[in-house]
Amino acid sequence: MDSSKYDYGENFGEIHGILLYKEFIEYWSDVEAFQARPDDLVIAAYPKSGTTWLTEIVYMIYKDGDVEKCKEDAIFNRVPHLECRAKEMFNGVKQLKEMKSPRMIKTHLPPQLLPASFWEKRCKMIYICRNAKDVAVSYYYFFLMVTIHPDPGSFPEFVDKFMQGQVPYGSWYDHVKSWWEKNEDPRVLFMFYEDMKEDIRKEVMKLMQFLGRKSSEELVDKIIKHTSFQEMKNNPSTNYTMMPEEIMNQKVSPFMRKGISGDWKNYFTLALNERFDIHYEQQMKGCTLKLKTEI
Ligand code: A3P
Repeated sequence: MDSSKYDYGENFGEIHGILLYKEFIEYWSDVEAFQARPDDLVIAAYPKSGTTWLTEIVYMIYKDGDVEKCKEDAIFNRVPHLECRAKEMFNGVKQLKEMKSPRMIKTHLPPQLLPASFWEKRCKMIYICRNAKDVAVSYYYFFLMVTIHPDPGSFPEFVDKFMQGQVPYGSWYDHVKSWWEKNEDPRVLFMFYEDMKEDIRKEVMKLMQFLGRKSSEELVDKIIKHTSFQEMKNNPSTNYTMMPEEIMNQKVSPFMRKGISGDWKNYFTLALNERFDIHYEQQMKGCTLKLKTEI
């Protein structure tokens, strides 16, 4: 794919057929050569699928519900974003190399682009998936507020790009399908944003079991309270207000935007919805993965 074909400006390039930020690509060899440790935990998601929410829950589990420990630093420092690189400002690989075990690692990479070492070391991985329509809406606002992105145009224009996989991390459909294929692997846990919205207690317990942690009602209550949308929106260590405004302009749209399921209904016209559904069926044909678009 020749990224110059798309009026997307100079900040995007392509790596192994996937559109991504040029600065990440420039240092790709560091990502590829990344050395996993057996007790690393990978938290993976297509962007805007609830990565931050899941990450804070897992962090609380690791810290046995110690809220103060969770507030010690911004989430992007406590759980570095593996492939994120921007000159001297961000270097996920470096942050992780310097980190004590056990590490939690955030990534938006599809499984085939994840450093081989994670598979070789049999690291545990948690993938969170959210319905495509809500992801598209959330991604649109993310495009508007994160300054590296070009103007996404109107919402229907952006949805077209999303459907064609012409957004960072490429096709949502390919991403979720290829991670879904890993669902058989007992080291991989597949989570759904909608399930978390529907029954957070059940999902927190599922996570604790996967991580081999004993749960108590009190601990689960604490985790649920600390990771509610309102708490995370008001918490500087989770709401990305510690990210410089030149990078994320939260006046345009807050990082913690709405945190609901089914917001797409406020943005998709009937015609767009119809077109999206037809394309969705084609893309997801034969895939057993079923997602709720509302709860
Ligand atoms: P919206 O833009 O729809 O509000 P990611 O962390 O993968 O970038 O995903 C961001 C999305 O998750 C945003 O969705 C954000 O509001 C939502 N989110 C973050 N924390 C949440 C929480 N505690 N509960 C529900 N949704 C949350």
